[in-house]
Amino acid sequence: MKFEGSDQYIATADLMLAVNAARTLQRPLLVKGEPGTGKTMLAEEVAQALGIPLLQWHIKSTTKAQQGLYEYDAVSRLRDSQLAGIEGSEKVRNIENYIVKGVLWQAFEADQPVALLIDEIDKADIEFPNDLLREIDRMEFYVYETRQLIKARHRPLVFITSNNEKELPDAFLRRCFFHYIKFPEAETMQRIVDVHFPGLKKELLAAALKTFFEVRGLPGLKKKPSTSELLDWLKLLLAEDISAEALRSPDERVSIPPLVGALLKNEQDLTLFEKLVFMQRHNR
Ligand SMILES: Nc1ncnc2c1ncn2[C@@H]1O[C@H](COP(=O)(O)OP(=O)(O)O)[C@@H](O)[C@H]1O
Ligand SMILES: [Mg+2]
Repeated sequence: MKFEGSDQYIATADLMLAVNAARTLQRPLLVKGEPGTGKTMLAEEVAQALGIPLLQWHIKSTTKAQQGLYEYDAVSRLRDSQLAGIEGSEKVRNIENYIVKGVLWQAFEADQPVALLIDEIDKADIEFPNDLLREIDRMEFYVYETRQLIKARHRPLVFITSNNEKELPDAFLRRCFFHYIKFPEAETMQRIVDVHFPGLKKELLAAALKTFFEVRGLPGLKKKPSTSELLDWLKLLLAEDISAEALRSPDERVSIPPLVGALLKNEQDLTLFEKLVFMQRHNR
């Protein structure tokens, strides 16, 4: 079965091609793109479309590769050994009772194929991707404490996302199929908005998209507003019942849009935008 997008998620043709290519190659799909371009949602939607469970591993700066495999809970074992009576000591003696399975282990032992999302891999330290090479390649790992080899029963469909905060090592890249989600063009964006706000008035949508792409196009912005920010902004425009006319200045010049705080998230960008508006007003 091929992935063809869903009624919640607008996938461009090249994105669908990438998903299906990664499945054919049985390699992880590495998805990069600006924050808010639907990377995390892609994994959720593909899993749902294929009818398989999705296991998610959200990476933080402190996440270690080992945590995805398993952790040995020595603290609990020590506490149990201190508290245990005769009947409790059996539990303490068996180290298996203190091995906590990580997300990869859960994916490997699942009795049906699953999807596995390793989200925002670039948050972790530089060694993290390298530490997972073998596990991702061979789909197996060794548990030293219990001398067990854990092998995947079914190769999971792996999604790895990155916001590009760090470069990934070559050896890691070699093992992935890569896709960059380009920022949606106006037409695709319109379809995305349609999915979220099916009843939106045409004039309001057109005016809002025009303003949005003007703001995004401003040279020198520190943080360009993304899809999810546009959606937030539209939600506010609807809640406040703001009309299309209010977004357009009568002379078609750029003006500060209402509720701009949904789009621009720092004072430098706001100042930059105000300057542009000011300069246009004074025809300079
Ligand atoms: N192609 C798309 N189709 C539908 N909604 C989208 C799409 N891309 C982004 N969105 C919206 O933007 C939000 C943010 O997407 P998310 O997957 O969290 O982005 P990322 O993981 O790339 O930062 C989603 O919850 C969804 O509402
Ligand atoms: Mg995300």
